[in-house]
Amino acid sequence: MGKLVTLPSGESVPSMGLGTWHMGERIGNPKTEVDALIRGLDLGATLIDTAEMYARGGAERVVGSAIKGRRDDVFIVSKVLPHNASFDGTMRACENSLQRMEIECIDLYLLHWPGNHSLESTLSAFEQLKTDGKIKHWGVSNFDTSDMQELYGIPEGKNCQINQVLYNLSRRGIEWDLLPWCRSKGLPIMAYSPIEQGRLLENKKLKALAGEIGVSAAQLSIAWSIRKNDIITIPKASNLEHVCQNIDAWTMKLESAVLDELDKLFEPPVRKKGLDIL
Ligand SMILES: NC(=O)c1ccc[n+]([C@@H]2O[C@H](COP(=O)([O-])OP(=O)(O)OC[C@H]3O[C@@H](n4cnc5c(N)ncnc54)[C@H](OP(=O)(O)O)[C@@H]3O)[C@@H](O)[C@H]2O)c1
Repeated sequence: MGKLVTLPSGESVPSMGLGTWHMGERIGNPKTEVDALIRGLDLGATLIDTAEMYARGGAERVVGSAIKGRRDDVFIVSKVLPHNASFDGTMRACENSLQRMEIECIDLYLLHWPGNHSLESTLSAFEQLKTDGKIKHWGVSNFDTSDMQELYGIPEGKNCQINQVLYNLSRRGIEWDLLPWCRSKGLPIMAYSPIEQGRLLENKKLKALAGEIGVSAAQLSIAWSIRKNDIITIPKASNLEHVCQNIDAWTMKLESAVLDELDKLFEPPVRKKGLDIL
């Protein structure tokens, strides 16, 4: 098992989680996907990231099957769609997610991206859901620095436990100001698409560097994404071999020479850029 990340609540969660986007999309038996999540859980990656959006609830059903008999050992993250994020809409969306996963409580419930409903109404619903025992914590996703400042301007805003954003070697924009801002508040980041949905693996120089240190390009990308103590990574893999590889990367320590080489191949930002979203 690799590092843990401490949330503002004081709770520690694994810095390696399991993504689920595109799971549950195929008609028929999603057994391969359920098995992939079970393998990940068996290997200690006991955080699962899902959303009502994924396969219109299909991914949450896959999660429900994978956690049967071990609910208490898993930290479940799900998300409400922005167009559902009014007070009543959030309450309903959460209930539907709970039903699909056949659980009583979501560990961390996120607003998927900033939308048109007022943040105040979404946060009121999140706080009510906490009081009702339907969620344990809440957070946000795809929030840029100005969105975070707006969030922290609301009294309950400081109860936020995470900002889940796109972060990988080819998407380092958050290092300019969002990551330092979150760090200054003690707020961890959850890095999604750590291998850029597979596109990073086609980079010949990355592959060569990974080959030199005896790992795969996916492992190098994933290990890089969690090189600091306040980032959680959530690669998605339906293939069992991929799951094992990715979780092996959890304990990988990258030498400073390798980090320097990666900085040359994928330069850190030199100015503010709007937050990338997939
Ligand atoms: N909040 C948001 O807006 C947001 C946006 C995007 C993603 N997310 C979350 O973040 C998770 C991860 O992001 P993602 O799914 O977009 O992309 P990703 O994790 O960067 O890449 C997933 C793809 O890479 C492949 N893969 C995984 N491990 C591999 C390995 N070791 N070697 C070769 N290929 C490998 C997977 O194939 P197989 O499935 O065939 O193994 C899949 O096609 C999502 O599943 C979702 O939970 C959140």
